Amino acid sequence: MCGIVGVVGLADCSETILDSLKRLEYRGYDSSGIVTQTKDGFGLQRAVGKLKNLSDLMRESPLAGQSGIGHTRWATHGGVTEQNAHPHVAGDKVAIVHNGIIENHVALRATLEAAGHLFSSETDSEVLAHLFLQAFDEGMTPEQAAASVLSRIEGAFALAAMHVDYPDMMIVARNASPLAIGLGENASFIGSDAMALSHLTRDVIYLKDNDFAIVRPEGAEVFDSAGTPVNREVVIVAASQGVVDKGGYRHFMEKEIHEQPDAIAHTLAAMTGADGTLSTPLPREELAQIDGIVMLAAGTSHYAAMVARYWIEALARVPVTCEIASEYRYRKPVTGAFSCAIAISQSGESLDTLMAMRHAGEAGLKTIGLVNVPGSTIAREADLVMPTRAGPEIGVASTKAFTAQLTALISFATALAEAKGAIDTARRDEIHAQIQKLPSMVGRALASFDEIRPIAHELTTARSALYLGRDVLFPVAMEGALKLKELSYIHAEGFASGEMKHGPIALIEEGLPVIALLAAGEVMGKAASNLQEASARGASIILITEERAAATVDFADRVVTVPNIDPLLAPVLLTIPVQILAYLTAFEKGTDVDQPRNLAKSVTVE
Ligand code: AGP
Repeated sequence: MCGIVGVVGLADCSETILDSLKRLEYRGYDSSGIVTQTKDGFGLQRAVGKLKNLSDLMRESPLAGQSGIGHTRWATHGGVTEQNAHPHVAGDKVAIVHNGIIENHVALRATLEAAGHLFSSETDSEVLAHLFLQAFDEGMTPEQAAASVLSRIEGAFALAAMHVDYPDMMIVARNASPLAIGLGENASFIGSDAMALSHLTRDVIYLKDNDFAIVRPEGAEVFDSAGTPVNREVVIVAASQGVVDKGGYRHFMEKEIHEQPDAIAHTLAAMTGADGTLSTPLPREELAQIDGIVMLAAGTSHYAAMVARYWIEALARVPVTCEIASEYRYRKPVTGAFSCAIAISQSGESLDTLMAMRHAGEAGLKTIGLVNVPGSTIAREADLVMPTRAGPEIGVASTKAFTAQLTALISFATALAEAKGAIDTARRDEIHAQIQKLPSMVGRALASFDEIRPIAHELTTARSALYLGRDVLFPVAMEGALKLKELSYIHAEGFASGEMKHGPIALIEEGLPVIALLAAGEVMGKAASNLQEASARGASIILITEERAAATVDFADRVVTVPNIDPLLAPVLLTIPVQILAYLTAFEKGTDVDQPRNLAKSVTVE
């Protein structure tokens, strides 16, 4: 997703801007650019591809100036070209960067072109530069220009604008897309998230929707959309030791796969009370009042929600519905049977999930944000936060955040079940004891890299693959298919094992890879039969299972085992080989493992 950074009042600011852009690389992008205010007007450099290309340009012709803005672009409107890269400049007097989508850009562009404005890109964002140019040319002050432009645009945006007549001033504004202002000693900063700023300052102002601010070296004045000054709290963010590094691994994703024992342990600690028993941020009496839960999420987080439904309904006997956030957002849901909505989001910034959570809140549901990024928009807007403690997840493909989400959700389900009287404290503590074994068991499962490497090698030539799972393992099959797709670009589909015979089995042909998830438990026999049906038609069965269940599928072509585990927790442990298989397949194929094509780590457009 696009990243925005800016500096006001810092000598030779371009290197600082470039460094902050590097801290936003994890969000995913396909071009970048920087503009600074020099004594001769704007200095502009833009480049397609990685930030290194921009850095090379700046080394050839450095950008002077003590104020500037930078941007990493994830293309929405207009191809990946230098002309479409931000910053956009209008009339050599206004420069802007933008994250989001200006939904009425076509009409605005037509009006501006009719008034004589000449556009140079295919983007929606460029209309912002011309709107500000028009406002300033009409003699408006920065505050008036900001209020005027914001009154004319529709859609999600985080933006920054500069005008050559105001060398030490920047206008910033947001609606739905995140933006933070950092307050330094004699300079001010802006960034799409605190990670871009935390090495520069820890004093941060988070704008609210439709706020705008005039940022100067001595600080920021914040206004609401009507131009009325408002007071926004200055929060202290955690210090950052610098850009998160790979720690000796080949990729962030490989590192984060290996960080899962810690991610699970730290998350479990956040779900354990002072008395050592499972607890949640909701007091026990509030848990007991929960009558129904709506789960809202996207992508991998949605699959975590799907696993949680099995857990919560089986343990707590509370009905759960799992909603794809982008669908729920525009539905007219009937919410009477539910009392709360849990928005699950690693980044806490997925706009689909944020807007779905707002929609649920407007429908009267209590909102809980299960997020991995403290201070994220979902965390700040939810009625209550239930944190995962996986640490920064840089790889675009989610790994440790997913198993951390599962850890938080099984803990929540168990605490909810006890609060509802569906299980007694002995059973609660028994499950808690099992969860506490997860870090060491995941650690043992991580040893399967070498066992999986040859399987990944074979998978690199596949045109397609199926993932099958039953019961709590069905969502893990969906997650496995997503991992393979998003990392190695091989088409893959996940199915509930029992669903194959209702049509998808027609896909089975000689040698088709079928990655099958199986665990001991009530449905193991049925799941094994479903695999037999696929094997009998020529599928190449790659079985991922517990040690004790391996013999159940003696017709598998490849077998990867993990330690035996309580059936309730099998989804957490079986995910590990699924992640490793996707990682090694992508690594063999030579794709961009940490930033796969077309993807962004945090999707802040609808
Ligand atoms: C996960 O591997 C994907 N990169 C993607 O599906 C992701 O889970 C989804 O975009 C939701 O992100 P969030 O958890 O930050 O809201």
